[in-house]
Amino acid sequence: MIRWLDGAVPYLKGLHIAALVLWCAGLFALTVMQARHDPAIGQVEYTRMRLAFHYSYIWVVTPAAVFAVTVGTLLMFLLDVFVVWMFAKLIFVALLVGFHAWVGGTIVAVGETRGERQTPGPLLPLLILLATVLAILILVLAKPALERVALPDWLMEPRGGQLPFDVPRL
Ligand code: HEM
Repeated sequence: MIRWLDGAVPYLKGLHIAALVLWCAGLFALTVMQARHDPAIGQVEYTRMRLAFHYSYIWVVTPAAVFAVTVGTLLMFLLDVFVVWMFAKLIFVALLVGFHAWVGGTIVAVGETRGERQTPGPLLPLLILLATVLAILILVLAKPALERVALPDWLMEPRGGQLPFDVPRL
């Protein structure tokens, strides 16, 4: 813990939560929006939809994601929370980042294929997104003491084995 920054922690947590609300809400909205990409709605509507999709991703959802991750990383160092539940949370955050990238990929595909791109329906992506966000929230709000999960001894101590290649000695 960096003592002289103690006072900043509540503000940083507030900023972290504000940014991740925007990020997660944006991902839900974009998932629904991408499912409505149908050239049959007419050229004007289709273009409006595509631009809204594109600009909200570039100017709102992605900056919110970068900000949430940056402030979260800062909090991790300030609070010294290098514990199991945090690393478990980071696995799900990585999934969320993957989902974010997948939405970005759909935006590029829609923008570059002149209306020929069939976008995915909303149900499965929404379920995956919901499960990921819920898993993160459960881990962070319940802060389970995963250290107590009984792990076999051989996983908890060095085995003294040799690496299959030569390691330079200092
Ligand atoms: C790389 C990404 C992230 C990092 C490094 C990170 C790190 C952190 C840290 C260190 C805390 C303070 C924990 C404590 O007080 O013990 C925190 C709080 C929190 N995080 Fe994250 N976080 C990240 C992403 C997310 C995401 C994506 C969500 C939700 C979808 C989330 C939800 C929360 C919530 C709700 C809190 C407040 C918990 C509390 O005060 O009890 N975080 N985060």
